[in-house]
Amino acid sequence: MIKVISVVGARPNFMKVAPISRAFKNYSDSVQHYIVHTGQHYDVNMSDAFFRDLEMPQPDYFLGIGSGSHALQTAKIMMEFEQICTEIQPDLVIVVGDVNSTVACTLTAVKMGIKVAHVEGGLRSFDRNMPEEINRMVTDSICDFCFTTEESANINLKKENYSDDRIYFVGNTMIDSQYFALDLAEKSTVLEDLNLNKNEYVLATLHRPSNVDDSAQLESLIEIIEYLSDNEKRVVLPLHPRTKKNLEKYGFISRVEAIKNLILTEPKGYIEFLALMKSCDFVMTDSGGIQEETTSLLKPCLTLRTTTERPSTITEGTNILVEPKKELILVELDKLLSGQRKTGKIPKLWDGKAAERITDIVVNRIF
Ligand code: UD1
Repeated sequence: MIKVISVVGARPNFMKVAPISRAFKNYSDSVQHYIVHTGQHYDVNMSDAFFRDLEMPQPDYFLGIGSGSHALQTAKIMMEFEQICTEIQPDLVIVVGDVNSTVACTLTAVKMGIKVAHVEGGLRSFDRNMPEEINRMVTDSICDFCFTTEESANINLKKENYSDDRIYFVGNTMIDSQYFALDLAEKSTVLEDLNLNKNEYVLATLHRPSNVDDSAQLESLIEIIEYLSDNEKRVVLPLHPRTKKNLEKYGFISRVEAIKNLILTEPKGYIEFLALMKSCDFVMTDSGGIQEETTSLLKPCLTLRTTTERPSTITEGTNILVEPKKELILVELDKLLSGQRKTGKIPKLWDGKAAERITDIVVNRIF
């Protein structure tokens, strides 16, 4: 029996691991697969809702780490995960994405002599101010294998002297989850629940520290939403806990609540969010994964960031990157509002089968 642990911690991890967990069921005679949840995200609608929506088995271990400074969170995860690895003695640890849980579990396992595979390895924004960039660089440099989602990742890893036999170009497990959930999203009643018409609203998400932790920057983004509302465009904004906390801290909550055409909601589960994304006019976000999900849906996406680690969403997909300055965002918004749309195509291997490739490689090539 090969023992494999997959680690999840924060919201963007769940949809990447769910298809891997499903695909390992085809190898139940040769692989024992465990899910460890670090508890980096712990709110029902930041965590539990995703297990339900993605029909994922409950984690075998829940570390209950919670929030804290980067050092504290990373250290606590490492201490707890070391005990789990000692108990299970896994042959392989699979980590996904770029959150603190990813780097913490990689460091722990590698130092215990356990092989580590990084799903979504090789992505680079080349912006070291992003905590995620540091997490990606550290994880890739010490793990044994990278499963990559797009050509740029293969190129980045080769430039970093990663040998070919450690790189597996498999596609995107986040898109596997989208394929899995599209029919379920069709049945969602979220549009009726929020009294929305198809293709008439903008779906927005904001949570990146560089956009929401600074009061002046956050206020300029509120002004963008006010501009859309003044132009009779409805905006749906599911509020990330970090953003909500900062709106309260800087005294912006009542101003935001007063925006006429803004629908503020709690963070949405996976299926409802997918339904909202599929039926909106366009998306405005600073997320990493949503850039890929909109590209796969051929939906216009305006990404409010200076860099992206997912360049195929721009060179091939429907994503537009705009530096998050009010006057620059307004230029791009006006284009979208006047109907100027980019056509996109779906990147190679974003076909719903990435997890099948990963599990095949684990069983037949790594072991
Ligand atoms: C983390 C990831 C980021 C990812 C994002 C998706 C890192 C470094 N960052 O950022 O890459 O895009 O998740 O959501 O790993 N909180 C709650 N409930 C929760 C979780 C968090 O209230 O379930 C609040 C806490 O006050 C916490 C804050 O949100 O301090 C931020 O959470 P944290 O996990 O530190 O980072 P995110 O901003 O969520």
